[in-house]
Amino acid sequence: MALCSFLTMLLIHITLFVSLCYAADPFVNFEFEVSYITASPLGVPQQVIAINGKFPGPTINSTTNNNVVVNVRNKLDENLLIHWSGIQQRRSSWQDGVLGTNCPIPPKWNWTYQFQVKDQIGSFFYFPSLNFQRASGGYGGFIITNRDIIPIPFGTPDGDITIMIGDWYTRNHTALRKALDAGKDLGMPDGVLINGKGPYRYNDTLVPDGIEYETIEVHPGRTYRIRVHNVGVSTSLNFRIQSHNLLLAETEGSYTVQQNYTSLDIHVGQSYSFLLTTDQNASTDYYIVASARFVNESLWKRVTGVAILRYTNSKGKAKGPLPDSPNDEFDKTFSMNQARSIRWNVSASGARPNPQGSFRYGTINVTEIYVLKNKPPVTINGKRRTTLSGISFVNPSTPIRLADQYKVKGVYKLDFPTRPLTGAPRMETSVINGTYRGFMEVILQNNDTKVQSYHMSGYAFFVVGMDYGEWTENSRGTYNKWDGIARSTTQVYPGAWTAILISLDNVGVWNLRTENLDSWYLGQETYVRVVNPEATNKTELPMPDNALYCGALSKLQKPEDISSATSIMGSSRLFFTLLMIVCALIPIFR
Ligand SMILES: *[C@@H]1O[C@H](CO)[C@@H](O)[C@H](O)[C@H]1NC(C)=O
Ligand SMILES: *[C@@H]1O[C@H](CO)[C@@H](O)[C@H](O)[C@H]1NC(C)=O
Ligand SMILES: *[C@@H]1O[C@H](CO)[C@@H](O)[C@H](O)[C@H]1NC(C)=O
Ligand SMILES: *[C@@H]1O[C@H](CO)[C@@H](O)[C@H](O)[C@H]1NC(C)=O
Ligand SMILES: *[C@@H]1O[C@H](CO)[C@@H](O)[C@H](O)[C@H]1NC(C)=O
Ligand SMILES: *[C@@H]1O[C@H](CO)[C@@H](O)[C@H](O)[C@H]1NC(C)=O
Ligand SMILES: *[C@@H]1O[C@H](CO)[C@@H](O)[C@H](O)[C@H]1NC(C)=O
Ligand SMILES: *[C@@H]1O[C@H](CO)[C@@H](O)[C@H](O)[C@H]1NC(C)=O
Ligand SMILES: *[C@@H]1O[C@H](CO)[C@@H](O)[C@H](O)[C@H]1NC(C)=O
Ligand SMILES: *[C@@H]1O[C@H](CO)[C@@H](O)[C@H](O)[C@H]1NC(C)=O
Ligand SMILES: *[C@@H]1O[C@H](CO)[C@@H](O)[C@H](O)[C@H]1NC(C)=O
Ligand SMILES: *[C@@H]1O[C@H](CO)[C@@H](O)[C@H](O)[C@H]1NC(C)=O
Repeated sequence: MALCSFLTMLLIHITLFVSLCYAADPFVNFEFEVSYITASPLGVPQQVIAINGKFPGPTINSTTNNNVVVNVRNKLDENLLIHWSGIQQRRSSWQDGVLGTNCPIPPKWNWTYQFQVKDQIGSFFYFPSLNFQRASGGYGGFIITNRDIIPIPFGTPDGDITIMIGDWYTRNHTALRKALDAGKDLGMPDGVLINGKGPYRYNDTLVPDGIEYETIEVHPGRTYRIRVHNVGVSTSLNFRIQSHNLLLAETEGSYTVQQNYTSLDIHVGQSYSFLLTTDQNASTDYYIVASARFVNESLWKRVTGVAILRYTNSKGKAKGPLPDSPNDEFDKTFSMNQARSIRWNVSASGARPNPQGSFRYGTINVTEIYVLKNKPPVTINGKRRTTLSGISFVNPSTPIRLADQYKVKGVYKLDFPTRPLTGAPRMETSVINGTYRGFMEVILQNNDTKVQSYHMSGYAFFVVGMDYGEWTENSRGTYNKWDGIARSTTQVYPGAWTAILISLDNVGVWNLRTENLDSWYLGQETYVRVVNPEATNKTELPMPDNALYCGALSKLQKPEDISSATSIMGSSRLFFTLLMIVCALIPIFR
């Protein structure tokens, strides 16, 4: 009898653990030491921001639903936050790493991010979000691979290659910040980096000797997935590989209709996956090019990134002129038509087994409409600022989400206008009042002379239309209500609009901003606050134990949070360790 009940108890315990083993999503852990190193990507020594001594930083590789834990050690001489661009942080804007939700990590401090990459697949990147730091580096790729049970809509690639492209200044981020604070333009960048390296010397006049360039080695007759991210300051780039097609397959977490492009425009903050077939004869190496877009190309020649694609059987160096950029000086619709051609593969499965298109966004009624209009920089109170709908955003010293948690009043106003203000522009901490479970239509109207790309944290939105001119109600007739791509960063051409639809199902406070660093720094952003009126931990995770305090709440902060690296999980980490041991033993019991 005693034996029997013992066995029953044992069985119950094992059953409980087995079910937990299948329910618990694995943890993947990373240590990030963020520091300055000296590098000379364009031949001029400068301080760049490295992660674990590397520039660019390591690529985070995770799988759908993994719990990602990153202990960030700030070895810079200024505050730091790491933002995980495109990672939706479902139910936890606490981990988003922007000033509206997090207090900055002071120099010499640790802070451990912990978040689940819930229901996501695809190609993303991370970067330091404060103080213009991205202009000095600190970025890296972030991959979410699909779970084995969900097929991808193409054959398994033979390799996976991350490419970070971006304009670059030989001035560091503090110098660039100083220029902006003094009301100046940053001027033409000094070059374009590919994976942190300067251009291959394709022309002796244009490229000085002794610059280290990136070489990507491939085997002939294979197919590679290449993930390209524009992590630069403000330059739209055209990406192309000599003699090769780029088969577009995915962008920012959505599988696209697969189409070949000879080149693709990648705007600041955007990410794309291409399938590259190495089907050429390797008579030479091939150029990989990222060149500035919509500029006077003869003036901007040196602002061109050039790397090398080398087949293992290559017979010689790349030669000849670089492959042509689109010749569309007098055709401003070329780039926009290319953007419109990027569509959702509605039959492919994304992070879940059901097809992407089973979320029929085109049949959902819009509940709130915002027209957000940006203009060229203006002067407010003697300062050069940028605006969105006439408001230049001022980051509060107490993060919005934290202020809500502690009911601190007067930190922000929930009064962001649904239509652009017509009066004098002003500086405000003005936030959009999003309705939980609402369906929001946002029209981004670019009244400036440069392309801006807009990004929203916490969501993938549907890009349903774009066109030149002023948006009107009639513009809705042109919306794509069927296979508009779902993504987190869209371009808005100068003198044009882009319309996006957002299903407000993720509770939290979410940044909506331009990715162009200079415009962002000068105030072109806001937040969308989405609150579930019913208080429940099901729609938003509790504030993490290790949350930092600042602003009006700074007295709650313990002096040096020695325990920050370990306290965050404490008992839960112990529990999961035990669980993993038991899980590992299960096959032995079977
Ligand atoms: C940035 O450059 C300035 C000179 O322009 C220099 O004084 C400063 O130390 C540099 N900052 C960092 C963090 O390297
Ligand atoms: C990422 O991890 C998955 C699963 O472990 C693996 O199959 C894949 O090759 C990895 N990708 C990269 C780029 O390391
Ligand atoms: C190199 O660039 C210069 C300046 O644009 C140009 O005049 C020259 O023809 C180029 N040389 C070659 C070999 O293409
Ligand atoms: C894309 O181009 C490759 C050749 O580089 C070709 O084999 C393939 O069929 C093309 N795919 C599509 C969808 O056009
Ligand atoms: C390889 O391809 C190039 C360009 O298509 C062509 O000019 C060249 O003759 C080819 N070489 C060989 C050995 O087939
Ligand atoms: C581009 O710059 C060159 C060199 O300054 C100048 O001669 C040319 O007129 C410019 N082209 C355009 C279209 O502005
Ligand atoms: C769309 O996805 C399906 C997988 O469901 C795939 O078989 C098909 O080739 C994809 N179509 C295009 C045009 O990319
Ligand atoms: C959308 O609105 C229309 C008209 O007001 C209404 O007939 C329809 O039922 C609504 N659809 C949904 C899905 O709520
Ligand atoms: C925000 O929107 C909710 C409905 O979603 C409404 O109940 C509330 O009054 C609004 N708050 C303000 C300050 O407008
Ligand atoms: C900006 O807006 C004004 C007024 O609506 C309009 O006249 C002008 O053409 C716009 N410029 C651009 C670049 O959109
Ligand atoms: C949510 O979780 C927190 C911390 O675990 C707890 O203090 C709080 O009571 C919970 N709230 C609700 C509404 O369940
Ligand atoms: C920071 O992280 C490192 C590595 O995990 C750890 O050794 C150190 O104790 C942590 N420091 C603080 C203040 O948490």
